[in-house]
Amino acid sequence: MTIPEFQRHKRDKKKIIVVTAYDALFTRIVEQAGIEAILVGDSLGIVVQGKANTLSVTMDDMLYHTKLVAGAAQRALVIGDMPFMSYQASQEDALRNAGRFLQVGAQAVKLEGGMAVVDQVAAMTEIGIPVMGHLGMTPQSVHRFGGHKVQGKESDHAHAMLNDAKALEAAGAFGIVLEAIPAELAKTITEQVSIPTIGIGAGPHCDGQVLVLYDLLGLFDDFVPKFVKPYAHLKADALQALCRYKEEVEQGKFPSDSESYH
Ligand code: KIV
Repeated sequence: MTIPEFQRHKRDKKKIIVVTAYDALFTRIVEQAGIEAILVGDSLGIVVQGKANTLSVTMDDMLYHTKLVAGAAQRALVIGDMPFMSYQASQEDALRNAGRFLQVGAQAVKLEGGMAVVDQVAAMTEIGIPVMGHLGMTPQSVHRFGGHKVQGKESDHAHAMLNDAKALEAAGAFGIVLEAIPAELAKTITEQVSIPTIGIGAGPHCDGQVLVLYDLLGLFDDFVPKFVKPYAHLKADALQALCRYKEEVEQGKFPSDSESYH
């Protein structure tokens, strides 16, 4: 999947499927499922590192996981998520750090925010770095929002978000993630910008959808937002397997003859 193909999906009315991944093993499984775009999300701060939010994730953390995913991906578009404070302070920071994602194999980067980051988005796209925007419940602003809460319910906020989306498009973003916003607002934004919108908790009208891999597999259940649909229950399966392994070793049933060398 290339950036032009990603964008063509909107014109062709073909849904864009995106999922997060953080390592080579799951990247291969995601590709076997025919999923064409992978976000190495800073959600890894929560689901891999066990933190309460994404704010402590570093560039080194992101580059390490991006390298694992990009090294395993054969077809999927790999998008690296720029961590907190890797792009907000200056255009120079943004350019250098975005460039590092491409150097480890990502084809694009994602960053959070609207008007506040359009100069960074324009500077990156000008030098050839594809950038995806992210609006709505942007997790790096969790403290400003007072928690992971739905955004854009009030009409002035909704209007500002529509303007942010148009500004990101004008700055050259190739797509926008819309997170935890009313479905009607996501529909309006999707209709009014020419670049694809990728929803997560933003209803069915977006041009594509993204979910955190461990949420959709039912692996991470510390906090499950309303918008998550677990398509499997891998935590329960893993727990059951580990309990059986422990029990069988304790009872002398494992290893049996067939797992032993003679
Ligand atoms: O970090 C992440 O995984 C994300 C997605 C939830 C969009 O930003």
